[in-house]
Amino acid sequence: MAIITRRQAIGSAALSATGIALAGTSTAAAAQAAVPAAAPAFAGKHNPKPLRFDPAKLTGLSERLITSHWQNNYQGSVRGLNIIETRLAAAMADPDFPPVAYAGLKREELHRTGSVVLHEYYFDALGGDGKSGGSIKEALDSWFGSFAAWEAEFRRTAMSLAGGSGWCILSYNRYTGSLHNYWAADHMHSPVTGAPLITLDMYEHSFHMDYGSAAAKYVDAFMTNLDWEVVDARYLAAIA
Ligand SMILES: [Fe+2]
Repeated sequence: MAIITRRQAIGSAALSATGIALAGTSTAAAAQAAVPAAAPAFAGKHNPKPLRFDPAKLTGLSERLITSHWQNNYQGSVRGLNIIETRLAAAMADPDFPPVAYAGLKREELHRTGSVVLHEYYFDALGGDGKSGGSIKEALDSWFGSFAAWEAEFRRTAMSLAGGSGWCILSYNRYTGSLHNYWAADHMHSPVTGAPLITLDMYEHSFHMDYGSAAAKYVDAFMTNLDWEVVDARYLAAIA
């Protein structure tokens, strides 16, 4: 996903100031003036992030599965987010656009954003050898009593989503300063102030092609291919 640059932040601040200045005019007019269609927030220019590994070389996750997941589910969300952003801009240009319809667009914006981000964290942490290490291993060992205890709880959290959908997320919670395995029912369901370190996709599209309903085997395969250097780098960035 695109990162907001300092220049864009300054531009956003200027837009906010414009909104304040227009506070005395009609609400609809102020809303229209505050959201130009070309603004980065509504540009719809997100590009898919390429896989950083060869999908033919994972262990226990087929090239067909990974490629289908990346092309269809992940890229579908990127395309969907781009469409929604342009629809939001169009809706803001219409002072009579119904709030209930705007709510639908905003819900889908949140849904697609969650899907894009969680999938990028998911794919970026694959391609490793599954061997844990680094500061994150020490932290999990300390926080959960042992690394094995953390892994047991992570796997149990993942399996609690099997047969349904959602994400199992190891997060560093910036507010509480703690590590937790979180249960997320969908792309919009995640811990407040949580920095994701591991995101395990438990939607059936992520494993059914290879494992049918045998979700535990998929969790095994995910752990086997996890790149702990990536996870450790995320942890160090989160606590910095
Ligand atoms: Fe997925």
